[in-house]
Amino acid sequence: MSAEPSPDCPICQRLHGFIAEWRLREPGWHNAPVPTFLPAGGIDSVRLLIVGLAPGLRGANRTGRPFTGDYAGDLLYNTLNEFGFSRGTFAARPDDGLVLINAAITNAVRCVPPENKPVGGEISNCRRFLTPTIAQFANLRAIVTLGTIAHQSTVRAFGQPVARHPFSHGGQSDIGNVRIFSSYHCSRYNTNTGRLTTEMFKGVFADVRRYLDDIAG
Ligand code: URA
Repeated sequence: MSAEPSPDCPICQRLHGFIAEWRLREPGWHNAPVPTFLPAGGIDSVRLLIVGLAPGLRGANRTGRPFTGDYAGDLLYNTLNEFGFSRGTFAARPDDGLVLINAAITNAVRCVPPENKPVGGEISNCRRFLTPTIAQFANLRAIVTLGTIAHQSTVRAFGQPVARHPFSHGGQSDIGNVRIFSSYHCSRYNTNTGRLTTEMFKGVFADVRRYLDDIAG
């Protein structure tokens, strides 16, 4: 199975129909599954994978790059720059020149869901792409999962029971030689309500940086 759905992926009827509506309303938008954002160094340079939930309607679904044009992207890309996982200025456009370093960004569900809420069947359908996405990175050592849905789908993609690797903000769990770092999702809702502060989010990436630097010797 390919790591990327076809541009007109028909597997989830509801999401396929939602995208069809938005193709009519906004023909200039991406309006298709959003592919994984890869680093300039290519697949073998990836040591960290970030797994988000799903494209935002006016964000990644419009621009075609994960977390780009979404409020959530401001915090994510600023943090990646600070910890050396990207360089360049994030300007919320796919042509802003921002490049990832040893990191890739994907979503548990590749198509925009109505109300930002994928249903269980869509999350499991889309795991057929998450699993080979993870498997293609031969040098992967860390995954940051953003929110419970991304976390559980990632654990299942490894064929593990979620009860053995429960989600908690700041939690860490090893599966084989990959360490999973879980974080509350960097959504506007979570940051506005104070569930996730900038410091809490940066703390997770500080842990990842330390871990990757330590194992690199
Ligand atoms: N944009 C994405 O690409 N993923 C998310 O989880 C949220 C916003």
